[in-house]
Amino acid sequence: MHGAVIAREPALPARYRRLVLQRFAETFVEATQIVASPLSLPGPGELLVRNHWAGVNGVFDDRLARNRVEYLDIHPPCDIGIECVGEVVAIGEGVTGFQLGDAVATTRLGNGYREYLCTPADRAIPIAAATPEILTLIPTGISALVALEQVAELRPGERIVISAAAGGLGHLLVQLARLKGAHVVGLAGTAEKCAAVASLGAHQVFNYREADLDAIFRQAYPQGFDVAYDTVGGPIFDLFLEHVAVRGRVICSGYTADIERPEPVTRPRIYTKLYWKAASVRGFMNPLFSEHHADAARRLLQMYADGSLRVLVDAREFRGLEAVPQAIEHLLAGRNLGKVVVRLT
Ligand SMILES: NC(=O)c1ccc[n+]([C@@H]2O[C@H](COP(=O)([O-])OP(=O)(O)OC[C@H]3O[C@@H](n4cnc5c(N)ncnc54)[C@H](OP(=O)(O)O)[C@@H]3O)[C@@H](O)[C@H]2O)c1
Repeated sequence: MHGAVIAREPALPARYRRLVLQRFAETFVEATQIVASPLSLPGPGELLVRNHWAGVNGVFDDRLARNRVEYLDIHPPCDIGIECVGEVVAIGEGVTGFQLGDAVATTRLGNGYREYLCTPADRAIPIAAATPEILTLIPTGISALVALEQVAELRPGERIVISAAAGGLGHLLVQLARLKGAHVVGLAGTAEKCAAVASLGAHQVFNYREADLDAIFRQAYPQGFDVAYDTVGGPIFDLFLEHVAVRGRVICSGYTADIERPEPVTRPRIYTKLYWKAASVRGFMNPLFSEHHADAARRLLQMYADGSLRVLVDAREFRGLEAVPQAIEHLLAGRNLGKVVVRLT
């Protein structure tokens, strides 16, 4: 251990473990390895954080392992995992505003899948407690809020339909859209998920595996949806395009179901659906809206603290870095209800 510190927990281990992307490979398991390293004390301006929980971003992690995250140029070996919450266990010289034991959240590629993290103090977000719920708000909640406001431009009284509405992102979109005074329709893939989405305040919820949504939407929503928020892609994206309202916005925020081999398009080109309605398709990618992150985080933490926002964390427990691949698999199989997290302590 080395470095100038102004405070530290007395009982820090000499070594810690992290999950490293060692090479690109077809599976996450083949691509990654748990590596033990000496634990360094924080340098000037840095904090050492004991990570308690990490968030799992199944599609991103899986694609990263195969070097298929289009906007990233990474070179293994490198650290992986993004969001985590933990507590400050050592404070570097010159850092003010933090004390030992403070709970913090960080979101940055390389921060998540590790037991300890050395981070610049100005990238640590102070939080009330290092819980999986707060981990879900930062950054998944940030994505939901920023996308609804900056990309969907959702207004009170508008109709919104949301796919994967019981997922980590979806369940927050549902509530935030309700709080904005929208009429909210959620889609989910099991009866249990539909019940959870209804309990969060959605006006209507449909099991898209069972219902004839095209017929239902034609009858119940003849004017279409002002916002159709999609993370699934394929037939759901096509359905949303069909049912977008005049001047409506279809939000492309992921395409989980279609990500490996996008289906060949055998339908009319999408401009035939957009032009006559002056509708649009808008993409959302959270890192490209970083100027809104701090404000969104502050507001989400406030909404959670005052009880206006509930957080669903998936009930399946994943413990330790060894469990990260199973957690990714669980998410990719669509078995989750709420945010998938891994416990690191
Ligand atoms: N653009 C951004 O910045 C941004 C930010 C956050 C997340 N995302 C994207 O949003 C999506 C949701 O992310 P998340 O981490 O919150 O996941 P999630 O929604 O918690 O989980 C994925 C859910 O999608 C549904 N799904 C539908 N078709 C699926 C398929 N073929 N395979 C697997 N799941 C399927 C499943 O629910 P049902 O049973 O209800 O179908 C599943 O539970 C991902 O595509 C992610 O990349 C994008």
